[in-house]
Amino acid sequence: MDIASRPSTPIENPETADAAVPPQAPAVIRREEYQPPEWLVPEIALDFALDLDSTKVTATLVVRQNPEGSGGQTLRLNGDGLAARTVTVDGQAANDWRMDGQDLLIELTGQNHTVEIETVINPAGNSQLMGLYASNGMLCTQCEAEGFRRITFFPDRPDVLSTYSVRMAGDKARFPVLLSNGNCTAQGENADGTHWAEWHDPWPKPCYLFALVAGELIANHDSFTTAGGRKVDLNIWVRPGDEDRTQHAMDSLIASMKWDEEAFGREYDLDLFNVVAVSDFNMGAMENKGLNVFNTRYVLADPQTATDADYDAVEGVIGHEYFHNWSGNRITCRDWFQLSLKEGFTVLRDQMFSADMGSAAVKRIEDVRVLRSAQFPEDSGPLAHPIRPDSYQEISNFYTSTVYNKGAEVIRMMRSMAGVEAFRKGTDLYFARHDGEAATCEDFVVAIEDGAGLDLRQFRQWYSQAGTPQVKVRLDHEGDVATLHLSQVVPATPGQPVKQPMPIPLRLALFDRDTGQHRGEELIVLDAEQASFAFSGFTRIPVLSINRGFTAPVAITSDVPTADLVFLAANDDDPFARYEAMQSLIVQHLVAAVGGGILCDAERQAGRDAIGRALAAVIDDSALDDLMRGELMILPSEAYLSEQLKVADPGAIHAEREGLKAWLGRELKDRLTALHDRVSALPYGRGADARGARKLKTQALVYLAAGAPEEAASRAAAQYAAADNMTDRQGALMVLCGLDTPARDDALADFRQRYDGNALVIDKWFSLQAGSLHPKVLEHVRALADSPDFTLTNPNRVRALYMSCAVNPKAFHALNQEGENGEGYRTIADLILALDPINAQTAARFVAPLGRWRRIEPKRSALMRAELERVAKAPKLSRDTLEQVTKSLG
Ligand code: ARG
Ligand code: ZN
Repeated sequence: MDIASRPSTPIENPETADAAVPPQAPAVIRREEYQPPEWLVPEIALDFALDLDSTKVTATLVVRQNPEGSGGQTLRLNGDGLAARTVTVDGQAANDWRMDGQDLLIELTGQNHTVEIETVINPAGNSQLMGLYASNGMLCTQCEAEGFRRITFFPDRPDVLSTYSVRMAGDKARFPVLLSNGNCTAQGENADGTHWAEWHDPWPKPCYLFALVAGELIANHDSFTTAGGRKVDLNIWVRPGDEDRTQHAMDSLIASMKWDEEAFGREYDLDLFNVVAVSDFNMGAMENKGLNVFNTRYVLADPQTATDADYDAVEGVIGHEYFHNWSGNRITCRDWFQLSLKEGFTVLRDQMFSADMGSAAVKRIEDVRVLRSAQFPEDSGPLAHPIRPDSYQEISNFYTSTVYNKGAEVIRMMRSMAGVEAFRKGTDLYFARHDGEAATCEDFVVAIEDGAGLDLRQFRQWYSQAGTPQVKVRLDHEGDVATLHLSQVVPATPGQPVKQPMPIPLRLALFDRDTGQHRGEELIVLDAEQASFAFSGFTRIPVLSINRGFTAPVAITSDVPTADLVFLAANDDDPFARYEAMQSLIVQHLVAAVGGGILCDAERQAGRDAIGRALAAVIDDSALDDLMRGELMILPSEAYLSEQLKVADPGAIHAEREGLKAWLGRELKDRLTALHDRVSALPYGRGADARGARKLKTQALVYLAAGAPEEAASRAAAQYAAADNMTDRQGALMVLCGLDTPARDDALADFRQRYDGNALVIDKWFSLQAGSLHPKVLEHVRALADSPDFTLTNPNRVRALYMSCAVNPKAFHALNQEGENGEGYRTIADLILALDPINAQTAARFVAPLGRWRRIEPKRSALMRAELERVAKAPKLSRDTLEQVTKSLG
C-alpha cells in the first residue's frame, strides 16, 4: 500500500493532543438536529500492531455514499487526540484531506471507495479509560459512547453499522490471549516471539460495540445450547489467580441466556460468548458484541470476599450486558439521545430477570430504593433531564439514573397497562420489526402500541418531560361510597418551566377495616390534572393502599392517618405496599420533626411509639420471611428524607434520624438481641433463608449500636471474629467503623491485612471508613487519600473513597466539624479538580452532590456553591466536568 506522507507532526499521545486544542465553549448537540450520515461504512478491517505504549492501528474502511443522505461528498471521520500517519483512498496516497478540529475530512468523488488510515496510539498513557488502554499490563477497549474515535478515525455515531474484521499481532509472552468480537477465524505464531489472531464478527454493528482485549488471562469455560440447538462456548476471562471467583458469574450467564429465551423469546446468535474482567473501568460493564468487558467487581465473587449484595450485583450486571445482545446490539440506537431505548429497556429486563431468580418482592423494593435515593434527587435538581434528553454537551454525562432507572420504570408502566401477555406481543413486534436497525424511542413506543394494543399518545410525555410527578391523594366517604380524589403536578425543571399532565397508572386496593381484607386490586390511570374515582359498597371508610408494586415512578402525598399506615404495615398483602407503609410512617414522623413543624416532646414520643410498635410487629411476625423482614426494618435514607423538603437541613435530618434509630435500639433491645442470636445460629448458605438471616444480623446490629454503642461494639466484634463470609464480616466492620472504640481499629487492621492484595476487598476497606458514622470520618478520608494504597487512576478506588464520602451526609455535610465549615464540600471539589485531567468521566460524576446546594439550608448552601464556583474557575476543565458545573450553577 502507498504511504501518503503529509507534513504534519504525528501526535501519539491522546492526552497531549487534548492539551493542544484551544479551549472553547463546548458545542451543544441537539436531538432535533439529527441528520442521517452522508457516508456509510458497510465494512471495516482493523489491523493492530499491539504494544503497551505505541500501538499502530491500520483501518481500512469500505465507504459508500448514503442514499438517504443529502449527497454531500465530504467524508467526516471523527477523531479524538489522533493524528493520521497515512491516508490512502482506493490504494492511492490521498491529498484531498484536511483536519477540522479533531476530525479528519476527505473530499470524495463518486459513491464507493476504500479508505485506509494509519494511526499510532499510546494505550499506557490513556488514563481516561476510553478507547484502547492498558490495565494491569493488559490491553482493553471501552468505546461507548465515543471512545472508538480515540483508536482510529471513523464516523463515530451509532447509526453507522459495519461488518468488522480484526487482525492483531503482539508479543506472545505479554499478550498470550488475543480477543475481539465475533469468532476467531485464524491465528498463528511468528518466529520473533510475536503471535497474531484474526477475528470476524458477522453481525453489522456500530463502532461503540467494537472491542479488543489482549493480555495474560485465564478462562472459566463452559457451554450453553440454545433452544434452537446452537452450542455456544462461554468463557469468563480473568487474571490468573482470580479464576476461583468466576463460578457465580458463569452460573449467572447461563441463567441469563435461558431466561431471555423464555421471558422474551431471544436466542444468542454467535458460537462464542466471552466476558473479560478488567480492574480499571469507568462504569459497570460493556455489552460489546460477543466480547463483554466488565469491571472486576461485577464478575468476581466467592463467599469469603463478596457480600450477598455483591452476588446480586454480579447476577444483575451479567444479565444486563447479556440482554443487550438483543436490546442494544441487534437493535441499536439511532443517536445517543435514544440511549434509554437500549438502557431503560435493558434495565427493566435485568430487573425482571433478578426478580425471577430470587425474591421478586425484595427486588422490587430494592429497585425503588435506588430510584428514590438516586433518580428522584437528580430529577429535582439542576441536572434534571427527560429519559430522552433534548441536548447535551458531553454524552458521557447522560449515562444517568434517569436514563437507566426511570427509563426502566417508564417501560414497566407500559407493561402494567398492557398486561404481561400483551406487552410480550409488543416486544416481539419491536424485535421483529427493527432487527438490524438503529432505532429510536419512538419506534419502540409505536411497536408497543401496535403489538400490545395500547394508545400511548399522551404517554409519550414520559419521554419528553423531566421531573418526578407529585400526586396528591385524598379519600373521602359518604353513604356507602368511598371517593378517591387525585391531582398531579409535574414540577418545573431546567428548560421546561411548564408541564402537561402525564398518564399515571396506579394499582390500588381498598381494605375493609374490620376484616383486614380487600376485594381485589384495580389499576386506575390518572391522566388529567385532577380526577376522582368512586368505589361503592363501603359502610365504613376503607384503608387505601395505592401505587402498589410502585406502578408509577411518582411521589405521593396524602394525609393518611398514622393508624392507617400502621394497619397497612402489618396487613397489606402487597409486599411493596407494606414496605411503603412502613416507610411512610417513618417519613411522616421525621419530616414533621425536622420540617419546621417543631414537635413537642409528647408529639415526638407519640411518633416514635407508633414506629416502635410497627417495627416490633415486623420483628415478631412469623409469617414474614427474613429477607422481607430485613427490607421492612430499613430506615428511609437521608437523601430520600431531604427530597421531602423544599429546603433541607442535613444536620437536623441526620440528628433526628439517628435519634430515632437510637431510641428504637434501646426500646427494642431485647427483641433485637434475640433476633441477632437467632439468625447468628444459622450456617452459611446461598439460599434465601441464610441470606435473610445475614441481612437481619447486620440490621439488628445497626439498631443495637445506635442504642447502646458499648455493648453493641462487643457484639459486632464477635460477629466480625466469627464471620465465615464477607456479608457478616463487612456488616460487623461497618457497624464498628461508626463507633469510637478500640475494637474498631483492631478490626480494620485485621481486615486490611487479611485481604491484602485483593483490590476489590481493599475497596470495601476504603468505602466502609469513608461511609461511616464516626465523628472523625473526614479526618479518616484525608488519611486514606494519603495512604500508599490510594490512587486516582483506578475508578473503583476513587469511588470507594470519595463517592462513599460524597453520599455520606456525616462526611459530606461535615456534621462533626464545629461550625460546619464546608470541609466535606472542599474535599469533593479538590477531588474533582485533581481527577479531572486524569479521568474526566469519573470526575464529572462528583459534581452532582455539590449541585444540590439550592435545596440545602442557607449556610451550607453558600459553602457548596462557593466550591462549585471554585471548580468552575479552574483554568482548564474537561467538557464533562464543565457541563455539569455550569448547569449546577446556572
Ligand atoms: N452500555 C453500558 C451499560 O451496560 C454502559 C457503558 C457506558 N460507558 C461509558 N463510558 N459511558 O450500561
Ligand atoms: Zn446497559
